[in-house]
Amino acid sequence: MEVPFAKPYLRGDEGAAVAEVIASGWVSQGPRVREFEAAFAERVGAAEAVAVSNCTTALQLALHVSGVGPGDEVIVPSMSFIATANSVWQCGATPVFADVDPRTYNLDPDSAERAITERTRAIMPVHQLGLPADMDRFLALADRHGLALVEDAACAIGAAYKGRPIGSLGPLACFSLHPRKVITTGEGGMIALQDPAVAARLRQLRQHAMDVSDLARHGARDVVIESYPERGWNYRMTDMQAALGICQLELLDEILSERRRLAARYTAAIEQLDWLAPPFEPDYAERTWQSYAVELAPDGPIDRTELMRRLLLDGVPTRRGVMAIHREGAYAGNGATLPHTEAASDRSLMLPLFAGLTDEQQDHVLGCLAAHVATIAA
Ligand SMILES: Cc1ncc(COP(=O)(O)O)c(C=O)c1O
Repeated sequence: MEVPFAKPYLRGDEGAAVAEVIASGWVSQGPRVREFEAAFAERVGAAEAVAVSNCTTALQLALHVSGVGPGDEVIVPSMSFIATANSVWQCGATPVFADVDPRTYNLDPDSAERAITERTRAIMPVHQLGLPADMDRFLALADRHGLALVEDAACAIGAAYKGRPIGSLGPLACFSLHPRKVITTGEGGMIALQDPAVAARLRQLRQHAMDVSDLARHGARDVVIESYPERGWNYRMTDMQAALGICQLELLDEILSERRRLAARYTAAIEQLDWLAPPFEPDYAERTWQSYAVELAPDGPIDRTELMRRLLLDGVPTRRGVMAIHREGAYAGNGATLPHTEAASDRSLMLPLFAGLTDEQQDHVLGCLAAHVATIAA
């Protein structure tokens, strides 16, 4: 049996929604993007949502409107996809890597606090793999030190912290709509925020800071001459993507409940296996299970790459645990030593998980995993 690692969950009517946009003749950013933004903001409990081309550009813009620029430092976890750090670099600022909590894989507020210097301008916690970071502590930390807070919520659409949705808690949270995430627009990002004035500025910055949107100009009854009060970028989402996003948002609850059901099945089985531990579940969080990562025991006999290789031969693709950015050549010379990040990154691996994974496929994954654990350990 060949099990896919990940797959977007689609209902079948998405093609018609996109075809309708094409037939309308307005295929770039327009009325569908506005509609998608409104539905997204409502779903995550934010006052506003601003759609952009992907989550990396969302993070860059969110940092930019928070005042981050050349000479500044932004504290980020190293245990994240490299886009987290790259968005800081894209602002001309320096990412400063802090360690994670070894149980949650999320940025440790104490480690983040120790990394603060007089150049620190912002902190960027990541809701890693869809598990909310400890937001009360990060909001208090940012407040205490007068720092901006930008959440990397790439994997966290639909997640909740102490019963409140991610997107409703902090000033700016950035989501990814890449196909490996919970819902998708092919490529895409969304900034959820609470301040309408900042949302208006973000809507300008994503289209070269032009002070008139195409939608407003189209609806105007007089000639409109636009102006450019500052410099910006082209980070627009298209209406074709937004039409897909609207369909996906309607499926979000179904997708989340299926991911949660499958994750519970994995956990129940993995708890019975030697040398492997299921993900830690803090009681304050409802996660999205964007990915399911198991951790190999430090003293176990199993080499992670060898286990991944054997599983692949069984038709079970896996992925290494979340990378440690500070060890990549792209950020060579950063000087960070992060023991929890390094151990967690080296010892974890991700199993196939997506809405649409059948119980039969999941049982195959678990059966192969149990067989290899038994033979490798023997
Ligand atoms: C934690 C995290 N941040 C940011 C990103 C970047 O998202 P995008 O591909 O939409 O730019 C990703 C994507 O994998 C991610 O996992």
